Amino acid sequence: MLLDIDKLRAYYEGAHDDISLDDVDLERIPAHVSIIMDGNGRWATARGLDRSQGHVAGVDSLREAVTTSVRLGLDVLSVYAFSTENWRRPKREVDLLMHLFATTLVNELPLFHQENVRLRFLGDIDSLPERTRRVFQRGLDETADHTGMTFALAVNYGSRAEIARAAREIARDVARGALSADDVDETALAGRLYTADLPDPDLLIRTSGEMRLSNYLLWQLAYTEFYVTPVLWPDFSRWDFLRAVASFQGRSRRFGGVVSS
Ligand code: IPE
Ligand code: IPE
Ligand code: MG
Repeated sequence: MLLDIDKLRAYYEGAHDDISLDDVDLERIPAHVSIIMDGNGRWATARGLDRSQGHVAGVDSLREAVTTSVRLGLDVLSVYAFSTENWRRPKREVDLLMHLFATTLVNELPLFHQENVRLRFLGDIDSLPERTRRVFQRGLDETADHTGMTFALAVNYGSRAEIARAAREIARDVARGALSADDVDETALAGRLYTADLPDPDLLIRTSGEMRLSNYLLWQLAYTEFYVTPVLWPDFSRWDFLRAVASFQGRSRRFGGVVSS
């Protein structure tokens, strides 16, 4: 994606402790960054607030992450907002999250228009509450023609369910003669995942220090670089994003081969 240097410099204006724009190579920005936004609950609890306040605060971080991604010229930003396992949380928290997703999406549509961001969802959004589903569909419709960054929001997403669903589709296609069993390969499977047509993430960021995937993009992260930060999601800023990118640029990605010199 094209990057507007002047806008980017203005966005990162001002010194900030240990990191600056000069610490990253603008020619080697990852194309797809994915984030497991974690730690909202702990952030709230540490302040004597209700967990829901952590989720509300997390929305500001998400807005900033979207803007940062656009400024850095990413092709894709994907974020994990609600897992298939998160239904196990108290109903009150689940209800609040579903409400927050819908409200946030409506509020952020002008930003998506302004920044030419195209929205898409990863996960089974058909079984979400009516209002959330309706608003999500509106977001898809209204941004379908946008040609800038893709923002992929994973809601009611679980990687195992996604792979099982792809396998089911393949089985159906084979059964009706649309696909031969011999043609079932990686491309056939990848093309039936929610991420079909998206490049695999180059960089995965997880906040709040947890070193696990929690059923996120198991297939797509095969060769992704991981960056785990202790920063809790509501505290995650454009500077933390820059730290993650700088760390990514210091890695040597070999994809199973040897380093080329
Ligand atoms: C991440 O924050 C947001 C969602 C899973 C919706 P958490 O709610 O998991 O926060 P912690 O991990 O309990 O601190
Ligand atoms: C993963 O975080 C899901 C999202 C961030 C949406 P969780 O907080 O649900 O993961 P676990 O339970 O700590 O593994
Ligand atoms: Mg968590």
